[in-house]
Amino acid sequence: MSTTPHTRDGVKVWDPFVRIFHWSLVSCVLLNYFVIEDGETIHQWIGYAASALVSLRIVWGFIGTRHARFADFFPTPARLRAHVLAMRSGQVESHAGHNPLGALMMLALMALVLGLGITGFMQTTDAFWGEEWLQDLHGVIGSALIALAGLHAAAAILMGRIERTNLVGAMITGVKRRG
Ligand code: HEM
Ligand code: HEM
Repeated sequence: MSTTPHTRDGVKVWDPFVRIFHWSLVSCVLLNYFVIEDGETIHQWIGYAASALVSLRIVWGFIGTRHARFADFFPTPARLRAHVLAMRSGQVESHAGHNPLGALMMLALMALVLGLGITGFMQTTDAFWGEEWLQDLHGVIGSALIALAGLHAAAAILMGRIERTNLVGAMITGVKRRG
């Protein structure tokens, strides 16, 4: 049985893999959306790197440390219902790992990144070269990802304030602290 390691002033929740994964993924997505020229070779490689990071994270969700595992936070209907009911009744639940709504968002963000990898790759094949609907679809998935990521970042900052826990800091240091 694994126990959550407590440090002097907090609980260690995110292992180095999760933290490096998160900020590398953020960099890839923001670079490809806002900085790099659409469709260039470097855009393709950064996009594949983002897909590779997500694929590795899925593997880590089965073999990783306690709070990195899907079993720890998978947003089942029962978990989601309990979480929403608790929020509605004004209770501030603190989850050691991801809360169920955060976990749902995480899965959506990762699915959209994989969607970009697939539609991006398809655009480079002879069969789909120059297909306008595919370019549009790729663009729509990219915009949806940026919109949800903005909501996700805002929710992380807001929930951190409500729970009085350094949620964003914990994604950097690995340690959740009450403060
Ligand atoms: C983090 C992942 C990615 C993001 C955020 C992203 C985002 C975008 C955006 C916003 C556009 C402009 C779409 C438009 O004009 O409506 C674009 C275009 C393009 N992307 Fe990506 N992309 C990603 C991954 C990939 C990958 C993996 C590939 C290919 C291997 C790829 C290939 C292309 C191509 C070829 C275009 C140009 C389409 C055109 O000619 O209009 N992208 N991407
Ligand atoms: C393109 C932008 C982003 C993407 C694609 C993204 C994606 C993700 C993913 C997939 C996770 C799950 C981490 C895991 O268990 O492996 C996560 C968690 C998290 N992200 Fe982001 N993220 C983005 C931007 C941000 C930004 C800008 C912030 C800071 C404000 C942020 C703060 C967090 C926090 C605090 C968590 C952990 C939430 C918790 O305590 O349950 N993210 N993000």
